[in-house]
Amino acid sequence: MLTDAESDIIASSGAKLVVDNLHPQWSEQSPQDWWNATLDAIATVRNAQPRAFKALRGIGLSGQMHGATLLDRSGNVLRPAILWNDTRAYAECIELETLVPDSRAITGNLAMPGFTAPKLLWLSKYEPAVFRAVQKVLLPKDYIAWRLTGEFVSDMSDASGTLWLDVGKRDWSGRMLAATGLSRANMPRLVEGSEAAATLREEFRREWGIDRSVTVCGGAGDNAASAIGVGVARRGDALLSLGTSGVLFAATARHAPNPTQAVHAFCHCVPRQWHQMSVILSAAASLHWLASLLKISVADVVDIAPAGQSETAPIFLPYLNGERTPHNDAAARGVFYGMTATHSAAHLAYSVMEGVAFAMADGYAALQGAGTTLDAAAFIGGGSRSAFWGRLCASVLGFQLNRHEGSEMSAALGAARLARLAHGGEDLSGVCVAPPVLERYEPEAVSQSMLEIRLARYRRLYGALRSEFQA
Ligand code: XUL
Repeated sequence: MLTDAESDIIASSGAKLVVDNLHPQWSEQSPQDWWNATLDAIATVRNAQPRAFKALRGIGLSGQMHGATLLDRSGNVLRPAILWNDTRAYAECIELETLVPDSRAITGNLAMPGFTAPKLLWLSKYEPAVFRAVQKVLLPKDYIAWRLTGEFVSDMSDASGTLWLDVGKRDWSGRMLAATGLSRANMPRLVEGSEAAATLREEFRREWGIDRSVTVCGGAGDNAASAIGVGVARRGDALLSLGTSGVLFAATARHAPNPTQAVHAFCHCVPRQWHQMSVILSAAASLHWLASLLKISVADVVDIAPAGQSETAPIFLPYLNGERTPHNDAAARGVFYGMTATHSAAHLAYSVMEGVAFAMADGYAALQGAGTTLDAAAFIGGGSRSAFWGRLCASVLGFQLNRHEGSEMSAALGAARLARLAHGGEDLSGVCVAPPVLERYEPEAVSQSMLEIRLARYRRLYGALRSEFQA
């Protein structure tokens, strides 16, 4: 996304990527594919707006969090990156917490298989030759930053998701690193997301016809970047993101952990701010799964769902890929409960959207356990295209959701705003403003009473099935 000095969008472009699932709990991508996709998207934007592109002054990056991107001494990628929704390192989480009994106190977070550190412990056991060759461990967007600048650097928000960061102190933890056989030398340098991190390589600057040097800022993990894009920077501000993952994000003035309920208590991407998140692994991913089974488009699934809303629709547990908040259960699986011969595709579509809303309600309960109550949240991500899903989530969560202009692209906008901040001379409050509200979704009392009964059943179902999942 190319923006002007006021963060108004001039041009944007995207490129599709695939995920490899070699085994049920594995999820990998090739870092070279990210790089090719980045260059393609840049080329499209540059061709669309050549003059504006020449005036480029700063770049901000955001990306999927937690992914382990492994480089050897010469900067070669050692293996496909192990992604945020890969749960193979479940046993290593338990091991890591045994190795560092106060890891929750150091990091403020529960060791979960999505995080980066347990993935490296897994690697040391099952791919020891690769592990021995590891010189740098980078997060996905930091790999792109390295290709662009030649520097190893990360920001506090993304680094929080590694489990190697002392999140309260905003610095790497030597003890967490040592427990996975690594040290600071294997990590990128740390900066704030809104701070200048490095300079675009000369070869790109010349090739792209830019006359002055271009600053690359620290950037942010996708959720923290989205927050900046939608004006969520201070305590009380929040967002609900329904993308592949589902995230309820609340900005906090201090580090406020609740590891037992799998709350992500991370640094924000601006200085002296933190945030909490509840994260589910299959939000829009559940809709995509159903759409492919029904052989209809995701848009059609969303269209038929309202007709399926009923007290007797099946109940869906969206744990297709295991779950993070609040259960931290890699063994959990997706469930349709209560199917009868009368149920139609519309019922299934409704159940899936409702099940995701229920999972977010469980996440909100975990955030409440960490001292957060919300009056409203920005509604973002691909799922925010559906007003029906917005009303359903507002009713289940019990607070207002606001869809802002550009809500599907807030992460890119947030990254561009971070680059603007890194350029200096502007205040966070002047840059991190909420785009105009297009629609507001209020909790609806009529559906709330039905949803309460169904939510209680949804929760009982997980309780009843937990041991079955483990078996
Ligand atoms: C956050 C998380 C996901 C990914 C998706 O903890 O794992 O939201 O960042 O890109």
